[in-house]
Amino acid sequence: CGIVGYIGYREAYPIVIKGLKRLEYRGYDSAGIMLYDGKDIKISKTKGKVSDLEEKSEAIASSKATIGMGHTRWATHGVPNDVNSHPHASNSGDLVIIHNGIIENYEPLKKELQKRGYTFTSDTDTEVLVNLIEDVQKKENIKLGKAVQVALNQVVGAYAICVFDKKKPDEIVVARLGSPLAIGVGENEFFIASDASPFIEYTSNAIYLEDEEMAIVRLAKPLKIRKIKDDSLVDPYIQELQMNLEQIEKGGYDHFMLKEICEQPNVIKDTYRGRLHANQGIIQMAGVEDNIEKFLNAERILIIACGTSWHAGLVAEYVIEEFARIPVEVEYASEFRYRNPIINKKDVVIAISQSGETADTLAAIKLAKERGAFVFGVCNVVGSSISRETHAGAYTHAGPEIGVASTKAFTTQITVLTMIALRLAKAKGTLSNSDFHRYLQELEVIPEKVLEALQTNDKAKEIAEKFKDASNCLYLGRGYNFPVALEGALKLKEISYIHAEGYPAAEMKHGPIALIDEQMPVVVIAPKQGHYDKVVSNIQEIKSRSGKIIAVVTKGDKQVKELADHVIEIPETSDALSPLVTTIPLQLLSYHIAVLRGCNVDQPRNLAKSVTVE
Ligand code: G6P
Repeated sequence: CGIVGYIGYREAYPIVIKGLKRLEYRGYDSAGIMLYDGKDIKISKTKGKVSDLEEKSEAIASSKATIGMGHTRWATHGVPNDVNSHPHASNSGDLVIIHNGIIENYEPLKKELQKRGYTFTSDTDTEVLVNLIEDVQKKENIKLGKAVQVALNQVVGAYAICVFDKKKPDEIVVARLGSPLAIGVGENEFFIASDASPFIEYTSNAIYLEDEEMAIVRLAKPLKIRKIKDDSLVDPYIQELQMNLEQIEKGGYDHFMLKEICEQPNVIKDTYRGRLHANQGIIQMAGVEDNIEKFLNAERILIIACGTSWHAGLVAEYVIEEFARIPVEVEYASEFRYRNPIINKKDVVIAISQSGETADTLAAIKLAKERGAFVFGVCNVVGSSISRETHAGAYTHAGPEIGVASTKAFTTQITVLTMIALRLAKAKGTLSNSDFHRYLQELEVIPEKVLEALQTNDKAKEIAEKFKDASNCLYLGRGYNFPVALEGALKLKEISYIHAEGYPAAEMKHGPIALIDEQMPVVVIAPKQGHYDKVVSNIQEIKSRSGKIIAVVTKGDKQVKELADHVIEIPETSDALSPLVTTIPLQLLSYHIAVLRGCNVDQPRNLAKSVTVE
């Protein structure tokens, strides 16, 4: 979910609505807004997107209210409908809350409140929280800030909240545990949001609350931050934001996803800038250099991540084992955290996350730290929770990724992880000098190859026209391109809702081959390097069962061309670096299929970009 708040001298409505639109990547199944105009609280909320909220809110849009807060939801408790949307008001109607996260013990709390006469109109855990705060406030006759603190100490779960009290209308109380919350500090005004994008045009000064901190954001008064548990005061640390407005707007593209796909040559360069010096044979990343002994003594590297980041982890497994000869295991963070994993002090854990906020990954990191492992983060969002929770790390520098389907984050993650593998190989002497130099040089020209791979856009569109009505699709690859097949399938299902599966090409014969008939498109990643001959045999097997073959091949390929129904040509790379290039046409293919099917590419149904609940 995404939350936005404003308290100051400007009209709050446009600020909150615009801010919510920027945060829609965090969830968009319902939205709501609260305004306070000095007299009345006005609430408008609806199932659907922020644009639906705007339509429904015409009556309050002209409000001159200078206090407001809004929410865009990714449902956890209660289906997305008008009633379950935030904000939620307390029984008296005086308190209003917006909440991102989950209150796990909401049921006993709700029962207790019901016994005390409270009634509930929604199925949400949030409505329980706002009434709990009200109950505390009444029972103990205390101010809002204190009541929020007492209530939060009874709560198990995760939250970022904003609470407003009509009886104290010059402040908004905010708190965080497990869900991000930033406060934009302007002159005589404050902004509150899940990330800084809603207020970037108003101020570049931001405070990021830490877990278990709360703040009372008061008009024209200095900000006070306290620890929720022991009430101690915390010195606010104001950070200067690096982001600019252009980076978070579409820049002439129809969709963020396409913009982000096309940015890849540049952002991969940004990723290795200052770290890779091919001519001098140097590769260095501060986070790795500072901890090089830990990496070199590692008996094992454990990679934890979710979604697309997990796929980048799989590529890393192949690259690190090949180059640096360190055993690597890759795990879904959600599994790792709940299965009592064996972790040794000599393990190095690498956590990969675009957003740096994924709840499961964050929890897995905490577990690994508790058990003594050194944890290294590969994050995109600077200052994110994971980047702060890890012992050290390397940012991917891909810039803000807004499209829910991850694209540039994936290739920049692979870039960072490949650099780590090369750096370790150099230190360990597991690659010959000439191979080391060759890879460095190749990595430096990868952006040009990615640019060339982007030229397959028209071809991808043409193929998309042919297969847009498919109901299933299979993606096959071997070796380094097996994770690419997984990622290709994930991209397609995420944004076009076509069922797609990625498989190691040779495993096809143990199951998926049963699905192949003349209706079944099979995307095969078959670059010249790697296990080309083996993949060619797999293609034969598909052909003899009348499957429709879409092959990603190296420019100039002849053999596969003869067998496949459609080919997409990409420039030649070494096997180990090929994922950075083979991924590109698969991203484009999914994109065009989704557009042709009329899907909402940037905001696919049921998904969210940043999943801060487990
Ligand atoms: C969500 C997003 C995916 C992303 C995954 C992991 O499911 O929709 O695009 O790969 O979370 O997110 P992270 O931010 O940790 O990489």
